[in-house]
Amino acid sequence: MELSAAVHGRRTVRRFKQVQVRETELRAMLDAARLASSGGNIQPLRYIVIQAPALVSRIFENTAWGGLVKPRRNPEPGKTAPVTFIAVVSPKSGNNTHHADAGAAIQSMTLTAYSLGIGCCWIGAFKRENVDMILELPEDSTVIYLLAAGYPDESPVQEDIGTGMPVNYYLDDNDVLHVPKFTVDAITQWR
Ligand SMILES: Cc1cc2nc3c(=O)[nH]c(=O)nc-3n(C[C@H](O)[C@H](O)[C@H](O)COP(=O)(O)O)c2cc1C
Repeated sequence: MELSAAVHGRRTVRRFKQVQVRETELRAMLDAARLASSGGNIQPLRYIVIQAPALVSRIFENTAWGGLVKPRRNPEPGKTAPVTFIAVVSPKSGNNTHHADAGAAIQSMTLTAYSLGIGCCWIGAFKRENVDMILELPEDSTVIYLLAAGYPDESPVQEDIGTGMPVNYYLDDNDVLHVPKFTVDAITQWR
């Protein structure tokens, strides 16, 4: 897939088929993560791939989904819930650079996933202490983000908006998720 097609076509997915993601595809995502930019090239992040159904459910119980359209994009266990989480683990002493590193790594993972037909939801709204405990992390580490992944069971669409227009994503009458994005001209100055 052309990079431009992935950049334009990738959308957050919150409904998943109940099929395990192939390990080769998860490895391709992790390979993209490891090659992402890193402040000072310190590479502080570590990854935990969670696929065991019982563990996935425990993590899922501690996540929040699609706040602007809830409850309609709350995945349902056994029906539309993610089959995989990738936990992005950082040292607790981490600073903004670690979050920036995570952003670069997660974006690389989501674009790679999209090119392989896998949908992702980047999760920042989760009960961190619970997730750290469930994953039995050492005291000096924490999950800074979760990435849910699976084969998509929805096809969200993007639409262009100009300055001053609402940014809220929404569901239309056909239950299709629309994601507004500002145009280049709305958000860019040239000097
Ligand atoms: C830092 C960050 C945290 C996010 N946390 C959540 C979350 O907890 N739950 C959720 O459903 N979506 C979450 N999202 C997904 C955003 O809602 C989504 O990226 C946004 O609506 C734009 O849609 P798009 O990814 O299709 O462009 C998060 C995205 C980012 C970048």
